[in-house]
Parts: sequence; C-alpha cells; structure tokens
Amino acid sequence: MTQLVVQGLRLEYPAARGGAPFLALSDVDLAVEKGEFVTIVGPSGCGKSTMLMLIAALLRPTRGAVSLNGQPVAAPGPDRALVFQDFALLPWRNVLKNVELGLEMQGVAAAKRTDIARKNIDMVGLRAFERHYPHQLSGGMRQRVGIARALSVDPEVLLMDEPFGALDAQIRQVMGSELLHIWERDRKTILFVTHDIDEAIYLADRIVVMSASPGRVVQQIKVDLPRPRGLSIRTSAKFNEYRETLWNLLEEQVRQSGSWARGEGGA
Ligand SMILES: Nc1ncnc2c1ncn2[C@@H]1O[C@H](COP(=O)(O)OP(=O)(O)OP(=O)(O)O)[C@@H](O)[C@H]1O
Ligand SMILES: [Mg+2]
Repeated sequence: MTQLVVQGLRLEYPAARGGAPFLALSDVDLAVEKGEFVTIVGPSGCGKSTMLMLIAALLRPTRGAVSLNGQPVAAPGPDRALVFQDFALLPWRNVLKNVELGLEMQGVAAAKRTDIARKNIDMVGLRAFERHYPHQLSGGMRQRVGIARALSVDPEVLLMDEPFGALDAQIRQVMGSELLHIWERDRKTILFVTHDIDEAIYLADRIVVMSASPGRVVQQIKVDLPRPRGLSIRTSAKFNEYRETLWNLLEEQVRQSGSWARGEGGA
C-alpha cells in the first residue's frame, strides 16, 4: 500500500539580502510503500535534508505537496518523526527521561509514558542504562537513545537524516544492522538519508538517487538482496554490482555539481 506521496515538490529558499531566491529542490516525485525502507543518496547540498524537512512539514513547499495515507500533510505531527545526526539529547535528563520527551509533549500520562519509553529502551538494548545521562554514554548509545525517542511516539514514518554520520565506520555498521533488527520487528516506513553508499545498499528496499542541486530524483534502484541481511552480505557479488552502479550514478552527479558550483552549468 502506498503510504507517503511526494508530488511535484519544489522549494525555493528566500533570497538573502537582495539576491535571487535559491532553488533547492526542483520537481521531486516519490511514492513510498507502507513498511518500506528507502534510502536517499545524492551530492552534498542537493536538498536531501530539505526534502525530509518538507515531509516533516517543518518547511512549506513553494510548489507541490506531500501526503500521508491520502491526506495532505500541512503541519508537523507525531505520525512523522525526524531523527537527526545530532539527536539533541537533553544533557540534564537521563536516558529514560530523554526517551519520554516526545510523549510528554503529546501529553501522555506519566505512568504510560514510562511504560512506552521502557519498551523502546529495551528494543534498542539500553535497559541497563536508563538512569545514565547522555555524557555517560558512547556516541552509538546516544544514537540509540535518539532512535528510542523517535520510536516512542509511534510514528508511521521515520525520517532519518544521516543518523550515523558522526560515528566511526565500525560502529556505524553495527548501528545499521541494529536498526535493521528493529525495523524487521516493527516495520515502520523509513526514509533514511546517507552519504555512505554501502549503508544505502545494505539497509534499503529501494535507493533513491538525487541529482546535483537543485535536487530531483534521477534514479531509483530496487535492492533485491535477501533479508534478514547480515554484515557479510557486503562482500557478495550482487552487493558489489549495486555498489558499482551507485558509484557511477553519484560520480556523475557530483561532477555536475562541481561544474555547477563554478557557474559552468545551467540551473
Ligand atoms: N535556510 C536556508 N536558506 C537558504 N538556503 C538554504 C537553507 N537551507 C539550505 N539551503 C541550501 O539549500 C541547498 C540544499 O540544502 P540541504 O541541506 O537540503 O542539502 P543536503 O542534500 O542535505 O546536503 P548535505 O548532504 O550536505 O547534508 C543547499 O545549497 C543549501 O545551501
Ligand atoms: Mg543534509
């Protein structure tokens, strides 16, 4: 079932001091199935974060629309949770209280809040750390607290903007496989932005490749690898084929973005 539809999405950022408005997204169309894991790749500055913010309705499109289950999306809501690279955990709150935050904002009663938060803390494997404060956790653990917080509000769609961007390569792989475990259990629809090609392949049912700025969808690649996926899948021949395809596509886009930045290309 198609759950999320992005149609003709265009976003111009307002001009800074007398300049022209900046066209960040040109004409983005995208349809996402319920429970699908979609990863989004594209050159830096092509508008990936902008697109997630439009879906979260933290920004208003210049043109086009986003709809969820057939209903237009007009305001931020708990049906779409956005997870950033920097989760902005509150340093004065312990893990449990950080995870409860979104539920508090929804006005969920204290006892129920704690129940739900605990369930999600368990799911990300931090049961023993619920009384710890963010500074007492590793980067990967903080990341998991952020994911538990996003899952606690039970969103229909999880929007993840380079959530593992700050982690080193090894932890990042582990986090990716943990996220897959969570997703396999609870099958949320996930839109996941990443710069890491292997991560994009490893996680996805489908990879959306965006063009150089102004961003639009240039290609969508269905990832036909078996699930559940272990880390060793990255060494398979099929994985390598996807890697090569994606490299070529991205290289082309990055090259275009370079010439565009020097003012040689059209925009
Ligand atoms: N508030 C803003 N005002 C003006 N321009 C903006 C604003 N936010 C982003 N931009 C511009 O819009 C373009 C798209 O930005 P965005 O952050 O969506 O890109 P991105 O694909 O997420 O990049 P990255 O991969 O580096 O995170 C960039 O050129 C950026 O400079
Ligand atoms: Mg970004």
